[in-house]
Amino acid sequence: MSRGLFISLEGPDGCGKTTQAQALLRELRLQGKTVLFTREPGGTALGEVIRDILLSYRHANMCSRAEMLLYAASRAQHVEEVILPHLRDGTFVICDRFIDSSLVYQGLGLGLPLTDVYGVNLVAVQGCLPDLTVTFRVSVASACARLRAKQAETASGPDRIEARGIPYLTKVVAGYGQLAAMFPERIVEIDAERDPASVTRDIIEKIHTLERSVKA
Ligand SMILES: Nc1ncnc2c1ncn2[C@@H]1O[C@H](COP(=O)(O)OP(=O)(O)OP(=O)(O)O)[C@@H](O)[C@H]1O
Ligand SMILES: [Mg+2]
Repeated sequence: MSRGLFISLEGPDGCGKTTQAQALLRELRLQGKTVLFTREPGGTALGEVIRDILLSYRHANMCSRAEMLLYAASRAQHVEEVILPHLRDGTFVICDRFIDSSLVYQGLGLGLPLTDVYGVNLVAVQGCLPDLTVTFRVSVASACARLRAKQAETASGPDRIEARGIPYLTKVVAGYGQLAAMFPERIVEIDAERDPASVTRDIIEKIHTLERSVKA
């Protein structure tokens, strides 16, 4: 049995990752694929505890390096317990955020050296990098508006990371553009300012291109 494909979805808070992940899941299952949807931080029992520590306000004084290492710890468990076993079984894995979130949020966003963030995360993922990373490109204004819409839908306020506000979000939006230029063989940027169905169609097309290249 051949290894499953691993797709990560990336982009700033509110850009539409979870919306697109659900649409992709439906579409790929209709195509007869066995698909796992998972998300970070989290995706395992340990990861969900770490997620809660990272996103709650209980540890407002968390330093940047501790934050980076906690994300990496959650990812290490996720890869070992969930992602690698499913890929080995031939399952198609869609992950809502992965290594690039750390490179952008803790590296480019908080100013930790990118080589440190990448190095720690390479240890965490055991070399298991996505076959394709889809980054949703949106303006800061759209991300803010969508984030507000999501918070209204879910009757929730901003989490500890979202609460860093517009200056940080602006760095994150720019950071995703920088990252796409750094890893052009793995990351594709998609214009996510359009209606959700058009965005989904574009992602499916990128996935078909990937599948053709893997078969060739
Ligand atoms: N293409 C789109 N056009 C307009 N609104 C959208 C689009 N995609 C998603 N939304 C809306 O934007 C809000 C945020 O979407 P979603 O929760 O999917 O984003 P996210 O990237 O997963 O956010 P987070 O990073 O906070 O998890 C939701 O209200 C969703 O309905
Ligand atoms: Mg989401």
